[in-house]
Amino acid sequence: MKIANKIIFFSLLIGFFTCNSIIGQTINFSIFSNEKLTADSSKIYKEPFRPQFHFSPEKKWMNDPNGMVFYKGIYHLFYQYYPEGIVWGPMHWGHATSTDLVHWKHRKIALFPDKLGYIFSGSAVMDINNTSGLGTLINPPMVAIFTYHNMEIEKAGGINTQTQGLAYSLDEGETWTKYEGNPIIDNKDLKDFRDPKMFWNSETKIWNMALVAGDHAQFYTSKNLIHWKKESDFGKEIGAHGGVWECPDLFKIKVENSKKEKWVLLISINPGAPNGGSGTQYFVGDFDGKSFKTNQKEPKWIDQGTDNYAGVTYNDAPENKIIFIGWMSNWNYARNTPTTQWRSAMTLPRELSLVKIKGDFVLKSKVIDQIKKQSIPQFSKEQIVLKPNQKVAVDYEILNQSEIQFKAKSKNLKLVFSNVVNDSLVLDYDAKSKTVSIDRRHSGIVNFEESFASKIHKTDVKNLVSETTDFRIFLDWSSIEVFLDEGIYSFTEQIFPTQPYTKLSIQSDESQEISNLEINKIKGIW
Ligand code: FRU
Repeated sequence: MKIANKIIFFSLLIGFFTCNSIIGQTINFSIFSNEKLTADSSKIYKEPFRPQFHFSPEKKWMNDPNGMVFYKGIYHLFYQYYPEGIVWGPMHWGHATSTDLVHWKHRKIALFPDKLGYIFSGSAVMDINNTSGLGTLINPPMVAIFTYHNMEIEKAGGINTQTQGLAYSLDEGETWTKYEGNPIIDNKDLKDFRDPKMFWNSETKIWNMALVAGDHAQFYTSKNLIHWKKESDFGKEIGAHGGVWECPDLFKIKVENSKKEKWVLLISINPGAPNGGSGTQYFVGDFDGKSFKTNQKEPKWIDQGTDNYAGVTYNDAPENKIIFIGWMSNWNYARNTPTTQWRSAMTLPRELSLVKIKGDFVLKSKVIDQIKKQSIPQFSKEQIVLKPNQKVAVDYEILNQSEIQFKAKSKNLKLVFSNVVNDSLVLDYDAKSKTVSIDRRHSGIVNFEESFASKIHKTDVKNLVSETTDFRIFLDWSSIEVFLDEGIYSFTEQIFPTQPYTKLSIQSDESQEISNLEINKIKGIW
């Protein structure tokens, strides 16, 4: 066999080979893969648009992540679930578990609605010292606190529809008992009063809870998870208020490269996000166990895209890591996206860290390292020098299941993902105005709801301060997640290409240098 043939033969064995050519102003690379992306509606997890490496429920409607807690090597993920329809309905808590945050096992539904109401969002902890008395020291309870939403009261025109309820499990989350004294926090006069996030405060040695009440957050303390005392309010006049506050989270985090620690408060709001609809803002400050204080004036956003909402972090994650998962959708169009068996997925889990840039705190989101196990290198190129208006074009059949990484000079840069029917998704970095935009107006099926693709989504990226920018992009069958400079900025957006994307072009109207370009296939997790 001639050497070239041998290379092709062995490459085919491992599934791909690459070649390149320069035609006019375009440098072409082709990654030949003997795999094709094919959907098959009759097979679960093979349906059109089904995420292959993100969590999604086997069937039916899902929204917020709930009750995220790590115990005995297992990450529990509960979620807002309606098992009988693919639009929002009477809420249950679905349940899944994972040992690596990448592969998930579906579990039985954990919590069902009862006479006090639907089971809205909330959190879970392991009550290791059995402070609640609901288990024993030998078999401590897993305790969930959630919001009850009472439809009877709503139908009768009452406003105090929401109270907080408790349930516990003595078999590590498998089966649950509702606490007989529910609700544990009553409500007389608030319309919106929900989404309790509780955690053990290792400084004050007491349980804390953050709750939202319409336009502000409230903080509580408890010795036993059952009786809660309200300590303070936060936020009526601070931050973004384009919509109601939802899904709070509060955690302590190290400031990178320093000995300091700060507290971060996450607040999702809907509507009122910078690019429309739902989004998650955060505040950096201090918390003394009773009240949260910040000097921050302007809202900051955890993600610049349109599809990362209601995200919260794990209780008790190993090594004190702060692991975040968001719901990869937006209330503007969540109920209308073009899937039929199930609706929506979670973001990739991200490790959060806090850095100071130009004197200001910035929360970074980095995809958890465990994802690397799923990644199979397909193509790499150490350096590509582009003249103005020259472009790199990469042909790759399974772009919709890939990770793309490279560094580029902090100059103009445009990335276009496209397919045989000319759907295109454009990511544009404008160096002069220091903005990044994502244009999904022609990305595939967009007409299911007007606001999905009515405008280009833009954001300033003034915190990117080095001469080169690091790009890391994860593309799944119906989502794109872009991370700049290790997550100083992240953009999460849903897309519904009518055919999988097979071409990536990287171009600039300036001279550009692309280095360490890597394209990896991400193996499916189901
Ligand atoms: C956020 C939210 C929560 C609520 C839940 C209901 O997406 O509106 O505030 O608890 O969804 O499903």
